[in-house]
Amino acid sequence: MSMRTMNIGMIGYKFMGRAHSNGWLQSQRFFDTEIAPVLKAVCGRHEEPLKEFADRWGWEETISDWRALIARDDIDIIDVAAPQYLHYDIALAAAKAGKHIFMEKPLALSVEQAQEMVDVIGDRPIVHYLNHNYRRCPAVRLAKRLIDEGRIGRIYHWRGAYLQEWAADPEYPLTWQMKKTKAGSGPHGDLNSHSIDLARYLVGEIAQVSAMMTRFIAERPLPDAQASAFSRNAGITTGTGKVTVEDASFMTVMFENGALGSFDATRFATGRKNAHTFEIYGSRGALIFDLERMNELQYYCNDDHEGEKGFRTIMATEPVHEYASAWWPPGHIIGYEHTFVHAAADFLQAIAEKTEIRPNFFDGLQEMIILEAGIKSAAEGRTIIID
Ligand SMILES: NC(=O)c1ccc[n+]([C@@H]2O[C@H](COP(=O)([O-])OP(=O)(O)OC[C@H]3O[C@@H](n4cnc5c(N)ncnc54)[C@H](O)[C@@H]3O)[C@@H](O)[C@H]2O)c1
Repeated sequence: MSMRTMNIGMIGYKFMGRAHSNGWLQSQRFFDTEIAPVLKAVCGRHEEPLKEFADRWGWEETISDWRALIARDDIDIIDVAAPQYLHYDIALAAAKAGKHIFMEKPLALSVEQAQEMVDVIGDRPIVHYLNHNYRRCPAVRLAKRLIDEGRIGRIYHWRGAYLQEWAADPEYPLTWQMKKTKAGSGPHGDLNSHSIDLARYLVGEIAQVSAMMTRFIAERPLPDAQASAFSRNAGITTGTGKVTVEDASFMTVMFENGALGSFDATRFATGRKNAHTFEIYGSRGALIFDLERMNELQYYCNDDHEGEKGFRTIMATEPVHEYASAWWPPGHIIGYEHTFVHAAADFLQAIAEKTEIRPNFFDGLQEMIILEAGIKSAAEGRTIIID
């Protein structure tokens, strides 16, 4: 029996474009989805590197205009691997054209945009997904299971941190991630959005926020048109431009269930590459996750024997751990790219089963409400209550 296929049109072909292409391809090799993805057309603005990318990853065609891509009848899925200033326009056009949408985070530049994106989806029969890929680490799934089983008890504290160092160098160019019009905000939207997604998933909804943000470096060398984050010195041109986002954000929150939380996001944490961690402390136990050791979950259990209590490190690579049995024997660890494979496989299966996938645009809207409240709180120096 031949398998059902769906054609993908992907917009953007750099960091996330590579991660997504790999996700679609590997999803077929390791998971039994009922739909097979066809890498039909990839969209970008620079012909030569776009063509090289398409050849390397097996995209059948290249296209320079994303509107023309969405208008095509032979495209079933729009994969958005482009910066967030494009998410709103692309999502509106894709939803109206009836395409399923695989969208990078954060959902939009503002709550207003996010609300409209959700409204346009309405009850159209399309699957929409927001790529907070860290929900799909087996160790994070284990944390979720332990919490749902009551093993941590009542949650008192969430401590989320997402620390990177790449902007600490003043010579680092002014890429789109440092411009408000393109990125909406700095590490607050870029990094805290991931932590907020995990906090909503694991702890619950947030009721009030209070934040402080700062900018350490006001002006930077201008990059050339093709530069993207992590491409330090890539084609720096003469001249400088103003940084219009914050460089670091610190936010404290109260959850609806009474837990207290903190979110720490910066691109100025010298020595930290991609230190994405959370700690959860509850009445019966505690959990610690560190993305740079993403196969592991640390678990402290209050019910352990006296004198033997301590954090144990669980390797989430056993067949009982979600996603793990699709890969290698226990202890043969997986990495960052596998979270994208899991997302691609779950997304395709959600389309096949006509069901929803989380996180989705609704989650993205909730997250934008928290992010925007954080920005407002920092600007006005007061706590913001979430409606
Ligand atoms: N889930 C994650 O872990 C993760 C990690 C990094 C980035 N992201 C998100 O992914 C998105 C893309 O980030 P990135 O790091 O891949 O950026 P990038 O700068 O590496 O790549 C952006 C791509 O978008 C393309 N693009 C820009 N404007 C375009 C236009 N008008 N038409 C067509 N293509 C256009 C660029 O040519 C480039 O290929 C952002 O929303 C970002 O927040 C998510």
